[in-house]
Amino acid sequence: MEVAIKIKIHLIAAARPNFMKIAPLYHALVKTDWTNPIIVHTGQHYDANMSEAFFADLNLPSPQINLEIGSGSHAEQTAKVMMAYEKTLLRDKPDVVIVVGDVNSTLACALVASKITYPEDPDPAFSEQYQNARRPMILHLEAGLRSFDRSMPEEINRIATDAISDVLLTPSPDADVNLLHEGIAEDKIIRVGNIMIDSFELLRSKIESLRIHEKFGLEAGNYLVVTLHRPANVDDREKLTKICSALNHISEKLPLIFPIHPRTKKNLEKFGLLGEIERNKHIFISEPMGYINFISLVTNSRLVVTDSGGIQEETTYIGIPCLTLRNNTERPITIEQGTNQLCEVHDLEKTVESLLSRKNRSTKCPELWDGKTAERIVEVIKNRCGLN
Ligand code: UD1
Repeated sequence: MEVAIKIKIHLIAAARPNFMKIAPLYHALVKTDWTNPIIVHTGQHYDANMSEAFFADLNLPSPQINLEIGSGSHAEQTAKVMMAYEKTLLRDKPDVVIVVGDVNSTLACALVASKITYPEDPDPAFSEQYQNARRPMILHLEAGLRSFDRSMPEEINRIATDAISDVLLTPSPDADVNLLHEGIAEDKIIRVGNIMIDSFELLRSKIESLRIHEKFGLEAGNYLVVTLHRPANVDDREKLTKICSALNHISEKLPLIFPIHPRTKKNLEKFGLLGEIERNKHIFISEPMGYINFISLVTNSRLVVTDSGGIQEETTYIGIPCLTLRNNTERPITIEQGTNQLCEVHDLEKTVESLLSRKNRSTKCPELWDGKTAERIVEVIKNRCGLN
């Protein structure tokens, strides 16, 4: 079929974990002749090492649209994105909006796109199904994940975004089941696999050629990587104090490297905990790292302790043991099939010790975590836009 008008697609980038999710899709879409994807950065993350570094590592162009909303309370941040993105939508009138993951910007953009009404006639290049919609089709990538813990802001964002999106692109079978349980129509759910793995595969040779650990004087296979940023772990003085004490003890057995998220840094300073960590010769702290440096560190590590979602998946794929410092996960497949294990702070030291004395258990990589997720999504978009 000859396409007269190109399908206009907004890819919503916003915060650190999402840059890795939009990059492979951007690169796959740019190669087609039926769309020119547009990267919309909401500005939720704005520090150079939380944002620009990822654009450089992932070979992404500067975002064509930047809403520059910055930090704020949940309501403030969500509302600012909504107000700014509504104006952008009315001006730019994309045919498709792709939101990824579970951050505040994900929900904010999906909510605006679901209620917008374009003033002019619909785009004639668009499929019949959406021709009269006068609003963009919304795709949610990484749909269906559930921690079943509504005290997490991300869980609210996931549930609400899935409820209003038109196409739900899932990474694993558990996500499909969750969506069906919530009454989502089966024909909206398409399992495409895990897009984070595409980013790893796109950059595998660079990741494997870097030996970042050597810059810290660390030996491959003989150090631990720590990342922490969840409010439940880092906003509470008592909890963060216990975590720091456990990390100080663990570092006597195995050196550890700890790239510190801005939220965590602020709280370590506020609670007077940063000094001790800085003085510990076995703990190497750093600013947040770019994608290639960080994944290279993980690839060569013995073990990872984290509360991140994406790292549970990446360690599963690379085969590095992961202790997730949370009492639940929206990514249970990383426990059932991968290298992940949940852990509470009071068990952290003991669990690290027992893992260090054990051989790594054999694990398998979940189905469709194969570096080809972006290709599958391109086919879904083409199909849903009536182009094949
Ligand atoms: C957000 C996401 C979380 C994701 C995480 C990855 C939500 C609800 N949370 O949490 O799901 O796992 O990003 O990092 O959307 N800050 C800076 N510079 C920046 C960004 C943030 O200094 O570039 C500081 C600000 O003080 C801000 C705080 O970090 O108030 C928290 O940032 P925010 O985006 O609100 O939430 P995150 O904790 O990063």
